[in-house]
Amino acid sequence: RGVSGPDLRRAAAERAVALVTDGMRLGIGTGSTANVFIALLGARVRDGLDVVGVPTSEATRVAAEAAGIRLATLEELPELDLTVDGADEIDGAMRLIKGGGAALLREKIVAFASRRMVVIADAAKYVETLGAFPLPIEVNPFGLGATHRAVEAAVAAAGCTGRVVLRRNAGSEPLRTDGGHHILDAHLGRIPDPEALSAGLWAVPGVVEHGLFLGLATGAILAEARDGAAHVT
Ligand code: A5P
Repeated sequence: RGVSGPDLRRAAAERAVALVTDGMRLGIGTGSTANVFIALLGARVRDGLDVVGVPTSEATRVAAEAAGIRLATLEELPELDLTVDGADEIDGAMRLIKGGGAALLREKIVAFASRRMVVIADAAKYVETLGAFPLPIEVNPFGLGATHRAVEAAVAAAGCTGRVVLRRNAGSEPLRTDGGHHILDAHLGRIPDPEALSAGLWAVPGVVEHGLFLGLATGAILAEARDGAAHVT
């Protein structure tokens, strides 16, 4: 039988869980790959592993509690040893696009508080140039129309073209993040200069955070199907 997406997510998560040792303070990511990591970590905790984790979303908090993982806040643990999280895209410089699951703000705060951040993903997330995945930009609801226009201008100034679209939930209401903000998804195709775009977006007052993770990932575990089996690199 063929190697499926779940097989690849599991292979990457297994390798990451092997990096965890007793006493570690962990950042725990969000998404379907992070959920596999949470399940595997929970199994090790039941076998006696002693770790404490800070979740990057309400969804992850619920999943980690269900898995029996001891949790804390960044007030209690302002410095973490290792964050394990998924990504929507990764390039050769370990720059990421994240936020497909709308958790980018807490994900970035937790990654920044960590000495190491290891990405776990299907190797299909690897790209030469970031941007095929729409870039999520978290914005304050106040002044949304003006912020939307300013984001479009910042995108153009960074040499990108494409539409910037307000993300909506299934009921077609504007989506609210865990922090009560909205998300603008920038459909750019390619981002020639991620650093320039990051700086331009940060200069817009209504932008809370954006999904470009630059200089945060210290390692990546990418899983691909080869010879009918999942391999990690
Ligand atoms: C959540 O906001 C995202 O950054 C996720 O980490 C990302 O969408 C990866 O999710 P999957 O592992 O489900 O692809």
